[in-house]
Amino acid sequence: MTKALVTGCAGFIGSHLTQRLLNDGVTVIGIDGFVDNYDVAAKLRNLAEIGSHPAFTFHSTMLQAERWKDWLDGVDVVYHLAALPGVRNSWGKAFAEYVSHNILATQLLLEACMQRPKPPVIVVSSSSSVYGTMQGTLTDESAPLRPVSPYGVTKEAMEQVCSVYVKAYGLPITMLRYFTVYGPRQRPDMAFHRFFRQMMKGDPVVVYGDGQQSRDFTYVTDAVEANILAGRHAAPGEIFNVGGNREVKLIDVLNIMGTLMNISPKISFQPGPAGDSLRTCADIRLAEQRLGYRPQVSLEEGLRRQLADMRFQPRS
Ligand code: UGA
Repeated sequence: MTKALVTGCAGFIGSHLTQRLLNDGVTVIGIDGFVDNYDVAAKLRNLAEIGSHPAFTFHSTMLQAERWKDWLDGVDVVYHLAALPGVRNSWGKAFAEYVSHNILATQLLLEACMQRPKPPVIVVSSSSSVYGTMQGTLTDESAPLRPVSPYGVTKEAMEQVCSVYVKAYGLPITMLRYFTVYGPRQRPDMAFHRFFRQMMKGDPVVVYGDGQQSRDFTYVTDAVEANILAGRHAAPGEIFNVGGNREVKLIDVLNIMGTLMNISPKISFQPGPAGDSLRTCADIRLAEQRLGYRPQVSLEEGLRRQLADMRFQPRS
């Protein structure tokens, strides 16, 4: 592969993926609409960290503006990370924005790719939130989709839109269901970012619910690797869980964080917001077998790196 287009290249995962592609010698067209879900300055810092690489061209635009279509010229793989993320803010009036950024924008991208003489491979970012609260041991990709947030509903609908384009036109789309990604540049609304920031300030850590909810936390470079592998090896229509291979309770994560910071965190338990899944636990065997995906970074090491990044460059 020689040329890629990354949507959402200034975001958390998108900026890491862009850096990785550039390091691998790929020419990258990056687009980002600076969707107003968090501090634009944080996204500008992400872009600054990508740097002025000669093989990187950045365009600031929303996918809905459609002025990016010609930039698909010569692109082998599209990595589609642009979205309005976050489960807890997707209620009320915000839902229309979630529909626009997560469903409608994706469909515009697929249409544009379809018009190409040779459509690019398209790796689409989906989410564990399509499953809702998980039951039993590990959840594989055939589990029923029962989202518990409007955000999860938009990600499920986005997957369905992708699937009909695969079935009708054979468009080479693959979908990755990420499980709560963390690491340097994590979005400021996400748990680890907020917890570290609160601990650094000496404030109580605000935990929603009783802290017994669990997640299969995934380090960001592992999510990036899944994108690279999917771009190379996935077949049209395939869907993969991308997890960290370890289910951990939130309260236990706080203990690890406390050890890393050499403090005993004060915790303020507050009522859990609607839309929060109680448990996620990924069966990643399909990604292992089909793509060769294997998470490399342990939770302890990933947290250490996120903390180092936040200390080095304080952010909101
Ligand atoms: C995350 C992302 O925000 C979604 O965009 C993504 O789609 C999803 O992962 C996914 O895996 O599909 P979430 O699991 O809620 O969603 O990630 P965090 O925001 O890091 O929250 C993890 C847990 O910490 C949740 O139970 C949440 O309620 C809790 N939390 C979060 C707190 O207790 N306090 C906070 O201040 C923030």
